[in-house]
Amino acid sequence: FFEENHFKYIIVGGGVAAGYAAREFTRQGLQPGELAIISKEGVAPYERPALSKSYLFPNEATRLPSFHVCVGSGGERLLPEWYKKKGIELILGTEIVKADLASKTITSASGKIFRYQTLIIATGSEAIKLKDFGVQGADAKSIFYLREISDADKLVEAIEAKQKGKAVVIGGGYIGLEVGAAMRINGFDVSMVYPEPWCMNRLFSPDIASFYEEYYSNKGIKLIKGTVAVGFEAGPNGEVKTVKLKNGQVLQADIVVVGVGGRPLTTLFKGQVEEEKGGIKTDGLFRTSVPDVYAVGDVATFPMKMYKDMRRVEHVDHARKSAEQAVKAITASEDGKSIEEYDYLPFFYSRYFDLSWCFYGDNVGEPVFFKDTVNATSTKPRFGTYWIHNGKVVGAFLEGGTAEENTGIAKIARLQPEKKKEELEKLGMLYARLA
Ligand code: FDA
Ligand code: NAD
Repeated sequence: FFEENHFKYIIVGGGVAAGYAAREFTRQGLQPGELAIISKEGVAPYERPALSKSYLFPNEATRLPSFHVCVGSGGERLLPEWYKKKGIELILGTEIVKADLASKTITSASGKIFRYQTLIIATGSEAIKLKDFGVQGADAKSIFYLREISDADKLVEAIEAKQKGKAVVIGGGYIGLEVGAAMRINGFDVSMVYPEPWCMNRLFSPDIASFYEEYYSNKGIKLIKGTVAVGFEAGPNGEVKTVKLKNGQVLQADIVVVGVGGRPLTTLFKGQVEEEKGGIKTDGLFRTSVPDVYAVGDVATFPMKMYKDMRRVEHVDHARKSAEQAVKAITASEDGKSIEEYDYLPFFYSRYFDLSWCFYGDNVGEPVFFKDTVNATSTKPRFGTYWIHNGKVVGAFLEGGTAEENTGIAKIARLQPEKKKEELEKLGMLYARLA
């Protein structure tokens, strides 16, 4: 029994990081039967970002198998057959409910025990729920969260059932803005509610946010800022009917979508492994405090070499790169070798309607907003922001940038050149082109 469930490598979690780790293992000479991926989800690893974007579109919606990893970064698509061909066990629909790092065993909800030599923790995050804040009526039907494909399927079903109804989106972060746009594209009457004075508060400067807020308003989306939902009322069928806000307003709703943040899934390992800043603490090779146990993606709090601090990053680019780094580190250590520490340049992006932005680096210091003067005839909005900290350009944001310009801002954020505010204002987009 034990032999059957014994693997050289086990990855717990079958999301983005797991998929990219599997590909890297094969590049490093993985042998059949050595690797198992155990996932609570019923499908092979896929590019999660699609769920809040094209998965929800009314026409030509993206569906599996088209967005299995590693297509999101331009790589070969890893279909279930690929794992079979490589001798990788894809153990789907299987939740791990217990981990004993001392005995190197993990146990599934159905009581199956798996043993490993090396474990990679890639459990990602879960959506924070409104009932965690004690919001009344938050368990009414048609209140949705969005994390996994099964959540997205339920939302799609409701979009189809309640065509062109009223949607209330709670949260003004990544999910809020992306799903708000998707609901509007589906013809819903959309209201968005968030507590901050402007959307995407943790990244956008007020100037950046005011562009998107105006754009959303022009699309007919109502933005209700500086307040939160305090209760829901359901009709006799249990379906949500109204949303009560702290400011006294009451909104009618056929569908509510909530995006109030994520929480890394570390509970299985509590007390067994060192944690920091809400995540599992790792070094620059994604090794945890326990030998032979690695953590990657959303759950890892790792040394951000560029900024000399420890951070957790909840974005897909880091999920991919941290997974590859951990696998390289594992195989190098087996050969008695070592590799360079992770040296990550933060990269975030998003898309709404016809808009598309990219951000690289750190959004600290003074934001310097600029509009495009290079290509003023462009019909697409084009603008950006540089962040100056201690005289250096440490972060850069572009809406509507070309591939070349986006590469330019990545370079700037990496090199952190010294620049004066007035110079940056004058150069604007041109600086990204010249970089
Ligand atoms: P990920 O969440 O991908 O995978 C974790 C896996 O572990 C899941 O399959 C889960 O079921 C499984 N699991 C958890 N606990 C388990 C257990 N006990 N037993 C078995 N399996 C378990 N980022 C970005 O940069 N750009 C974008 O546009 C988007 N868009 C986006 C949309 C939506 C809807 C979400 C939810 C997230 C994004 N992100 C994003 C964030 C990005 O998707 C995220 O950072 C990565 O998916 C993280 O990868 P991980 O592999 O760490 O977790
Ligand atoms: P988030 O942290 O981006 O945004 C949370 C938002 O919730 C805040 O901006 C705030 O407006 C709001 N909020 C907090 N408490 C609230 C309350 N009580 N009532 C109303 N609003 C409240 O988190 P998210 O948008 O839920 O995204 C979840 C995860 O998915 C994150 O890890 C995120 O990085 C990831 N994600 C990333 C992308 C992307 O990178 N493009 C897209 C979608 C999701």
